[in-house]
Amino acid sequence: NRKVTTHRLLEMKQRGEKISMLTSYDFSMASIVDQAGMDVVLVGDSASNVMAGNMTTLPMTLDQMIYHGRSVVNGVKRALVAVDMPFGTCSGNPTQSLESAIRIMKETGADALKIEGGKEIIEDIKKIIDAGIPVMGHLGLMPQSINKYGTYAVRAKDEDEAQKLLDDVKLLEAVGCFGIVLEKIPAKLAGQAAKAVNIPIIGIGAGGEVDGQVLVIHDMLGINKGFSPKFLRRYADLHTVMTEAVQNYIKDVKTSDFPNEKESY
Ligand code: KIV
Ligand code: NA
Repeated sequence: NRKVTTHRLLEMKQRGEKISMLTSYDFSMASIVDQAGMDVVLVGDSASNVMAGNMTTLPMTLDQMIYHGRSVVNGVKRALVAVDMPFGTCSGNPTQSLESAIRIMKETGADALKIEGGKEIIEDIKKIIDAGIPVMGHLGLMPQSINKYGTYAVRAKDEDEAQKLLDDVKLLEAVGCFGIVLEKIPAKLAGQAAKAVNIPIIGIGAGGEVDGQVLVIHDMLGINKGFSPKFLRRYADLHTVMTEAVQNYIKDVKTSDFPNEKESY
């Protein structure tokens, strides 16, 4: 059960072994996810939505990502841990981007970073990789750009955006990214991207012709009930499980059933 490395993920792609990836934001959840055998744990800036209750990922700060990152790293022994660079910390100022990247790596102990964007921020990504920090790219639907898109609809459905995505995938591989997340794009295009490069392509809403899959843990456990895109498969209904447990506790407190004699000193 040796630690998963970027090198090992490349070997998995070569062998045709699919890569499992799931988000976590805290110590307890990350411990469960790691011990279940996950390959990659992503400290996503989706923490903004599922932990903080914000509408978008934009409010997430560097300090908040570091807090979540450190908490997750404390719970993980085997999986590779990647932390999202939050909105505004990798946006065309390579020196500043590297400073932020180094802070995350130093203060969390994570193994890698994930960064949204292609050609526009390629110098930032190159500088971070050149400093010895492994970077996973993120293309297709990039939630940090939601105000530019104005919609969470499927991306790269037209020829121009599809071609740009393929160009960006190759560019990210060329500067040394160890993998790329493709979010909410046509399955056929994602499959083409996976064939075009040697680094693993991890999909979310990008079909099955890629090298691995990632989901947000609150979504796949059914904690969140308000978010039901077509690409989401729910593996549990924790919303119901937790609601019933909490209601039973309330009832037991109200009826003085809890605590009983055995539960008292
Ligand atoms: O923040 C996140 O959870 C992500 C995944 C959805 C890929 O970036
Ligand atoms: Na993210």
